[in-house]
Amino acid sequence: MRPGLSGRKVAVHVCGGVAVVKVPELITSLRRQGVEVRVAMTPSATSFISPTTLRALSGNPVAWRLFPAKGSARNADQGEGHGMAHIDLSSWADCHLVVPLTASTLARLATGLADDVVSSTLLATTAPMILAPAMETGMWRNPATQKNLATLVARGALVVGPNSGRLASGRIGEGRLAEPAEIVAATLRVLQPYGLMRDWEVLVTAGGTREPIDPVRYLGNRSSGKMGERLAAEAAARGALVHLVTAAEANPELPGVETVRVETADEMLRACLARLPSVRLVLMAAAVADFRVEQPASHKLHRRDQPELELRLVPNVDILAQLMADRPPGCLVVGFAAETEDVAQRGLAKLKQKGCDMIVANPVSGEHSAMGGDMAEATLLTRDGRTTQLDWRPKSAITAAILDEVQRLDEDAPRPSFTG
Ligand code: CTP
Repeated sequence: MRPGLSGRKVAVHVCGGVAVVKVPELITSLRRQGVEVRVAMTPSATSFISPTTLRALSGNPVAWRLFPAKGSARNADQGEGHGMAHIDLSSWADCHLVVPLTASTLARLATGLADDVVSSTLLATTAPMILAPAMETGMWRNPATQKNLATLVARGALVVGPNSGRLASGRIGEGRLAEPAEIVAATLRVLQPYGLMRDWEVLVTAGGTREPIDPVRYLGNRSSGKMGERLAAEAAARGALVHLVTAAEANPELPGVETVRVETADEMLRACLARLPSVRLVLMAAAVADFRVEQPASHKLHRRDQPELELRLVPNVDILAQLMADRPPGCLVVGFAAETEDVAQRGLAKLKQKGCDMIVANPVSGEHSAMGGDMAEATLLTRDGRTTQLDWRPKSAITAAILDEVQRLDEDAPRPSFTG
């Protein structure tokens, strides 16, 4: 049992889908970690698994009706009874886990419709919420589903999965429930957010650098800075002291994160070097322009003054290489590889070439481009030869997996003790 988890309380909200078959294993694993579990069910979930089974597995009464059925006496499973099970459960839980999250419950949660014990409990709670969706690929990809999910993510919900694989219909595709071990890991992360990275100082870069042509124009790229922003938020949620050096204009100020705004690669390098000596982890998510204009004009260039314009570009500094050279003992460095083809292969080559501890390789073209949106797919490649494939999912789920992998590297490889 993990120290510190004993007595932590998780409400598992079960919805109606075939993926319910993984819920017993999930509940058992959580209890093995010392977590106390109470279950709530949507009415349709009871067609897939009985409240009695989940009562036995969780060791607690199960809430599955908002109000007692007419004429029925209250039984051992709450929700058959006093009509307040949702209020009890909403304040009882340290964290709420919705599994498998169906499209209809997702829509209820996004719109605040509280017509069953699950949606009522989740509307009433302020505790963190983890969503583990499972549905057919078409339903998952539907813009309505994605919009509802984005609404909940913007309100702070964490999303685990879905993965790709065999679905209830027998088809292969996205929408398969994440494995119980992945869901347990996400839940444990939420239950002990402080402590996981409590002593860490983390430097994150984000956004695409802007290299001036003249005072109003620049060379730039399509990076939104969202991956870096989510990484900073995730590291801060784990208790780290975080510096976010961002070239993205839209990155909001995150609570508990020092946000340093820069424009050019050169400014980014200087901001990073100033913070590097005390840092234990560098997450180099920025899309740094490889070239800059050798001599930006000091005044606005006018069309009528020059029918043709030639810009001479010179290489920018490789920030990652510079940080690798100057990093303090024990500091881990993660690079990113945005690629349009042979993503994993090029990522591996970059891992070797850059010599860093991990490369996160993302496709940036086609249907699953990581550029700009809230979703991405990624391959994590580590210096100890591990490859983790993360299918198309919210960037918040990708960033959590990146930090899990960083922490595994940190635990597995004893390095000179950190002195920063
Ligand atoms: N990077 C950097 N400084 C640069 C260019 C890239 O620090 N001038 C970092 C990026 O932030 C990323 C990693 O290096 O973490 C890989 O960036 P990428 O643009 O994919 O690779 P490059 O090194 O530019 O190589 P290439 O253009 O050949 O793909």
